[in-house]
Amino acid sequence: MKIKMVVAVALLMPLVSVWSVVTKAEEEVTLTPPPDSIAQWYKPQNKRQVWLHTMFRLRRSMQAIQEYTILQDERLLDKWGSQFIKDYRTITEMVPEWGDEVEPKWINRLELVIQNREWEKMGGALRKVAMTCSSCHDDYRAVTAALYRSPDFGKVMVEDSETLEELPYKDAMKNLSISMNSFKIAVEDRRFSAATAHLETLSTRIMDLGKGCSECHRDEIPRERIVGLETELLLGELSALVELNPGGVGRKLGKVGVVVCARCHSVHRTLSDLRGLLEP
Ligand code: HEC
Ligand code: HEC
Ligand code: HEC
Repeated sequence: MKIKMVVAVALLMPLVSVWSVVTKAEEEVTLTPPPDSIAQWYKPQNKRQVWLHTMFRLRRSMQAIQEYTILQDERLLDKWGSQFIKDYRTITEMVPEWGDEVEPKWINRLELVIQNREWEKMGGALRKVAMTCSSCHDDYRAVTAALYRSPDFGKVMVEDSETLEELPYKDAMKNLSISMNSFKIAVEDRRFSAATAHLETLSTRIMDLGKGCSECHRDEIPRERIVGLETELLLGELSALVELNPGGVGRKLGKVGVVVCARCHSVHRTLSDLRGLLEP
């Protein structure tokens, strides 16, 4: 499966004269998801994130080979060299479809260089292997992380404490946005009691959302930063402004938008959208 995204690249030309133009070049970016067989090396199919840990080991043992080459320590070079070579060869055992992504001849060469203690050739031999790391990473790393390691909000529900309904995240989000706009519209049109009611709904919905953070987060810090005391105070201040100084509502509400919505969206929504685009 291939996913194509058209990225409009706006080339903003320097404003040399009034006649200068803004050109738009269209460039197609192809994002290819990894073969499905990689799923068995990630949660939930596996108990551990096996693929990722194999990768961390590859980087570590590669570094160890470099360090023990400098020290010319044969015993430790053999230890890390064989670990590295073994892990590298498991790449295609784990994901057979990636046969073309690795170069057996370069890993075989590295093996010989290690066996023969050709210290001066080690760097070059490693670099050849490392080129295969980069080329696979360029194509697959970001996509794999988004698909297999980003939190999946598709299954998370939010309980609406007024109706006691369990809502999918997307619907809870739509409701948040609607109550935020209803509030803003009512303030602008000087319908203050309606505004106060909408603000109460908005506040309740924000706090309802906060109850669900602990489904995934064991610590309180992320929730506290986004739907904690600062947010409660802001909502209280907003409520006071409605009748006393409606002109000040816009700014304060903007602050809520940043503290609550934008902060969370920058970690959670962007990745979640990307994941949604990539998933079949
Ligand atoms: C056939 C494809 C492929 C090859 C070859 C490959 N990798 Fe990876 N690597 C991946 C994928 C896919 C990820 C993303 C995994 C994730 O984020 O869950 C990754 C992630 C990593 C990471 C984690 C990156 C980070 O900072 O979070 C490290 C480290 C890494 N690879 C090291 C290596 C090294 C070193 C080599 C070569 C010796 C290598 N990889 C070869 C596919 C490959
Ligand atoms: C479906 C699981 C899931 C839910 C639900 C969830 N998060 Fe996260 N969140 C994660 C994961 C995974 C990370 C990245 C690793 C980490 O920090 O634990 C993360 C990272 C974050 C981060 C950045 C890193 C940090 O720990 O500060 C913030 C901020 C955050 N989440 C806020 C929230 C808030 C607020 C809620 C509830 C309104 C929430 N998250 C609900 C899974 C989730
Ligand atoms: C957990 C942290 C979190 C907080 C806090 C948060 N959002 Fe979201 N928002 C998300 C995630 C995740 C999605 C993507 C949900 C999906 O598509 O399944 C999303 C999607 C949305 C969407 C798009 C819904 C659609 O139709 O696809 C809107 C609109 C939205 N959020 C509004 C808001 C507003 C307004 C606020 C602040 C009052 C807010 N969100 C606060 C995480 C958050």
